[in-house]
Amino acid sequence: MSRIFSLNAVAATLLSAHVYAADFHFTGLSGAKTLVVVQTKGQDLPSGQFSAATQAQLKKAADAAQFDASQGSTFELLAPIDSDYDRIMVVGLGDTDELNAANMAKLGGNIHAKLQAHKAEVVDLSFAGIEGQINNAQLAAQFAHGANLRDHSFDVYKKDTENKSVSYHFSVDDTERTAEAYKALAHIEKGVFLARDLTSEVASEMTPVEFAKAAKELEQYGVEVTVLGPKELKKLGMGALEGVGRGSEHGARLVVAHYKGSDNAPIALVGKGITFDSGGYSIKSGPSIARMKSDMAGAAAVLGTVKAMALSKADVNVVAVMGMAANMVSQYAIAPGDVLRTAEGLSVEVVNTDAEGRLVLSDAMWYAREYFKPEIMVDVATLTGSKVRAVGNRYSAIFSEDEQLVSELTAAGKVVNEQVWRLPLGYKDMLKSDIADLQNIGSGGPGATTAASFLQHFAGDTRWVHIDIAGNALASKAKGEVNVGGTGYGVRLLSEWILKTK
Ligand code: BES
Ligand code: MN
Ligand code: ZN
Repeated sequence: MSRIFSLNAVAATLLSAHVYAADFHFTGLSGAKTLVVVQTKGQDLPSGQFSAATQAQLKKAADAAQFDASQGSTFELLAPIDSDYDRIMVVGLGDTDELNAANMAKLGGNIHAKLQAHKAEVVDLSFAGIEGQINNAQLAAQFAHGANLRDHSFDVYKKDTENKSVSYHFSVDDTERTAEAYKALAHIEKGVFLARDLTSEVASEMTPVEFAKAAKELEQYGVEVTVLGPKELKKLGMGALEGVGRGSEHGARLVVAHYKGSDNAPIALVGKGITFDSGGYSIKSGPSIARMKSDMAGAAAVLGTVKAMALSKADVNVVAVMGMAANMVSQYAIAPGDVLRTAEGLSVEVVNTDAEGRLVLSDAMWYAREYFKPEIMVDVATLTGSKVRAVGNRYSAIFSEDEQLVSELTAAGKVVNEQVWRLPLGYKDMLKSDIADLQNIGSGGPGATTAASFLQHFAGDTRWVHIDIAGNALASKAKGEVNVGGTGYGVRLLSEWILKTK
C-alpha cells in the first residue's frame, strides 16, 4: 500500500520536534531584564546586589505574597524603582535537606514554564552560595536539566509555534564544575528527547519500519544496530513476535542496538514496541485506544538509554532489544484462540489478542539471552491497565525476585523523579492452557502480576527485572521537568542506574 503523502515522520521528528531552545551559561550574570534569585527557608531575602529602595520593595512584595520560601513558592517584583531589572522573581527552595537532584530538576522545569509564560528571553539566575544534599554545581546543573527537559516539546504538526526560547545566565560557585555536571546531564537529555519524540509521533508514521530507521541513526555514535524482519524472525523461531506483527502490512521487526563500552557481560534492556495497540480482534473499546501510539514507549526508553550511554561514552556494555509490531486487525491478523510458538520453545494460546505485549517480549527476551548472554536483563513495557489501577502514573511497577536489583532501581528512581513501586510475581501457575504450554492471559489473579509471571517463563536463570510503565509514557499535563506528550519515561531511570551502579 502506498501512502498518498507522508510527513516522513522520522526526519521530521528528529530534526524539528524541538522548536524552542533553552541554553545555559554558567559564567555569571549577563545584565538581562529578568532576574531569578533563589532562597532557602530561614535565609534572608536577597540584598547584596540591590539598592535600599529595591530591598524595601522586595520585602513588601514578599509579605504581600505571604512568601515563606517553601520549595516551589515564588513571588515577583515588577519594575523595581531603581533597578535595571524589569522583573525579579524570588524562588523558594525549602529546607536544605530538600535540596536534592529530583527536586531541583522539578523546580527547574516549573520555573522554566513560568519564564516562558512571561516571554522572558534572557534570564539571570543567581545560585551562588546555595548548598543542599548535593553541592552547588550539581544543584544548578539539575535545575538547568529540569528546565531543558521541560522545554522539549513535540510540535511538528502545529502551524504556529511562538518562540519560547530562554537563554539562562547562572551565577554559581564553580563555573567549570557546574558546566561539567550539566554536560553529563545533557547526554541523558538527548536520550530522553529521542524516546519522547518516538513516543509522541503518531502511529501511522511511527511504524516498526520507521522505528528501525530511527534506531539506525544511532550508528553514528558507535552503536551497532541490527534489524530482523518477519522472515528472519520466523526462521529463528520467533513465532510470537512475528505473529503479533501479522495484522499490519509492515510486519514485525526485532531491533537490536548495542553500545559496547566495556568487555563486561552486557546489560540487556528489552523493550515492548507496539507502535499501535488496537487490541487486535479483542479490540479495545473506549477512549483509551486513542493513546495507544504510546505502546512502544518501552522500546523508545531502552533505545533512548542506549543513545544516552553512547553519547556519555560510558564504560558499560548495554544492548537494547526491541520487539516491534503494530497490533492491528486485518484478514492476516492472529485470531483469538490461535496458538503461537515462541523461540524459547513454549507454545502460547492467544486467548486475548490485546495481551500482545508479553508475546513480543517473550521472543525479544529469548533473543537477548541467546545472543548476548547478559549479566542482567531489564524489560520495560507499557504492559497492563492493571498496573495503572494498582499504582497510578506517579510510579512505575517493578517486578523481580532479585532484591539487589530492586533496591538499586528503587534508589535510582528517587534520584531522577521516576519512582518505581514493587509488585509481586508468583502467579506462573495461573497461565495454564488446555491446548498449549501457556495461555497469554491469567485465569484470575492480578493482571499486572500475571503478565509479569508470564514473562518470568522467558527469563530463565538470568538476573531479571520487569518494569511496567503503563500510564507513565504519555503525559496530558505538563508538570515539573515533563512536558505534554511522550515522557521518555525510563531513560533517566535506567541511565542513572547504569551509570551509578554498573
Ligand atoms: N498496551 C496495553 C496496556 C496499557 C493500558 C498501556 C493502558 C497503557 C495504558 C496492553 O497491551 C493491554 O492491552 N493489556 C491488557 C491485558 C489484558 C487483555 C489481559 C489490559 O491491561 O487490559
Ligand atoms: Mn494490548
Ligand atoms: Zn499493548
